[in-house]
Amino acid sequence: MSNYHIKNLEEYFKVYRKSIREPEEFWEEIAEEHFVWRKRWDNVLNWDFTKPEIKWFENAKLNITENCIDRHLRTKGDKTAILFEPNDPNEPAQHITYKRLADQVNKMANVLKDHGIQKGDRVCIYLPMIPELAYAVLACARIGAIHSVVFAGFSSTALATRIQDSDCKMVITSDGSYRGSKSIDLKGIVDEALKSCESVKSVLVAKRINSDIQMMDGRDKWLKPLMEAASGECEPEIMDAEDPLFILYTSGSTGMPKGMVHTTAGYMVYTAYTFKNVFQYREGDVYWCTADIGWITGHSYIVYGPLANGATTILFEGVPSYPDHGRFWEVIQKHKVTQFYTAPTAIRALAKEDISYVEKYDLSSLKVIGSVGEPINEEAWHWYDDNVGKKKCPIVDTWWQTETGGMLISPIPYVTPTIPTFATLPLPGVQPVLMDENGQEIKGNLAEGRLCIKFPWPSIARTIWGNHDRYKETYFSAYKNHYFTGDGARRDATGYYRITGRVDDVIIVSGHNLGTAPIEDAINEHNAVAESAIVGFPHDIKGNALYGFITLKESGETRNHDNLRKEINQLITEQIGPIAKLDKIQFTVGLPKTRSGKIMRRILRKIACNEMDSMGDISTLLNPEVVEQIKNERL
Ligand code: WT7
Repeated sequence: MSNYHIKNLEEYFKVYRKSIREPEEFWEEIAEEHFVWRKRWDNVLNWDFTKPEIKWFENAKLNITENCIDRHLRTKGDKTAILFEPNDPNEPAQHITYKRLADQVNKMANVLKDHGIQKGDRVCIYLPMIPELAYAVLACARIGAIHSVVFAGFSSTALATRIQDSDCKMVITSDGSYRGSKSIDLKGIVDEALKSCESVKSVLVAKRINSDIQMMDGRDKWLKPLMEAASGECEPEIMDAEDPLFILYTSGSTGMPKGMVHTTAGYMVYTAYTFKNVFQYREGDVYWCTADIGWITGHSYIVYGPLANGATTILFEGVPSYPDHGRFWEVIQKHKVTQFYTAPTAIRALAKEDISYVEKYDLSSLKVIGSVGEPINEEAWHWYDDNVGKKKCPIVDTWWQTETGGMLISPIPYVTPTIPTFATLPLPGVQPVLMDENGQEIKGNLAEGRLCIKFPWPSIARTIWGNHDRYKETYFSAYKNHYFTGDGARRDATGYYRITGRVDDVIIVSGHNLGTAPIEDAINEHNAVAESAIVGFPHDIKGNALYGFITLKESGETRNHDNLRKEINQLITEQIGPIAKLDKIQFTVGLPKTRSGKIMRRILRKIACNEMDSMGDISTLLNPEVVEQIKNERL
């Protein structure tokens, strides 16, 4: 039996039991056998959820890029590491071998060093899905710089906030990006953001769309000539197991986005292990995850997890609808993709299109298909199973979070029998529990409650950058000695988990995690707006869409409401990005409030979702009369 690669259900239960009974021995064996270390750990795990402090593989020394690149060179130097599929299907795909990857990463690492980047410095990466994005991430890891990738769909304001929060010294970007038939001026967005970011000393610019852009003297440099002049050798920086590898921002229910900090060794071991098992990756497979590297899914399961296993991972620049709705299926046929990992929102959008888009292509190379980002509804699950997997590919509905670094609850394909909409069973090392209203663990299989994890796994985020108190408050104070996920879940009679969704003010729109607070802040900046509250309501394709209830200042009352709606969405686009735009905006006379003045989003949610029969008691509100009026004017 190998702990590393689970091959049947009996083995899963055996491995799972061991991982719970002897977690340290379990992870130690995996770490020992499957990675290269410069120095061994003194201690596998040290943890205290009350502080909280979590350390895995204490005092071990390593470099993650040695594990993801160098060690494969001898046996797999000419194997494709990254298969780049451009936005335009007529532009040839690029097969970037492990050898070439090593060369490019080392060159970029040397360029970073030449620009004064040292171990521990923060580097912001704001790039489209092009090879330079992967090189930049790995180049940072090579020299011990902490990367902070910001999804290139975020606005200049959102970018600036993230750069400021972690005092990035450098930004790596491109002249622009392609998105379907459009191109986007990324460099312009960076220039705008950098007006308020004093920490940034240099900007490296990759050329992608050949647009005519402004280069600021002394600050901005083209990446290509620098890389061409740089050496292809770069000694890896020797990192401590617990040295930060990256920061990645995620929305919270209140306040600034949280810069989740992931560290080196535990993250590497866990993402590699889960990649191997959840995709049943075998030599020769071609794996494709359609996420953007700007999200955790891309960090863990486009870059680190696959490369740590010496896999071939596709980097796709395009969108599912360009040049037509058959693009995903065309790419699967073209590259004979074996594992395909996407989001429910994409599945729902493509399921709406003519079935001939799927049927036209040969998808017989597929062995495993996956889903991530939000609960997958039954209809989408069956469509995916019937038309993409042709009923012969297990669907891995993988539940996890930016904070968890890797998948925590997921079927293991060909091992765990699947049930539509169930993420099924915890992966080895993961100990989920459900909590009741009183903060007590609900024992016994059949249960519904708030999902917590009671024991650390190796890739749990260690802190929030610059704000450990907030880390403790957000994740470790709701339930004593437990990590609280923010999700609700049901457990069935056999112990299978079904995630029911967020129980806080985070709304997941098209798989993107959106906090209500930053959106409301953006709306409130409009000079006609007095107050606002955002809630989610079900949407066929996006899963949830945003509904805004907005009260206007007196001066705003007389203005044209359609114009106001446009202006408000424009503000949101500027401050956060188009993903956070509101689908519905209702102007109201007031917002329902508690006597202490807190907006009752619960009531607004019922109205937005058209569940007005089950509003519960509203008599204790400060202003119950507004509820009736809001109901009558519902959009
Ligand atoms: C939230 C985390 C994990 C990478 C992408 C999202 C929801 C995620 C599932 C799933 C039901 C899911 C949860 C979670 N979620 N995967 N398979 N089933 N819900 O990462 O942006 O940090 O969002 O996404 O609500 O808390 P994220």
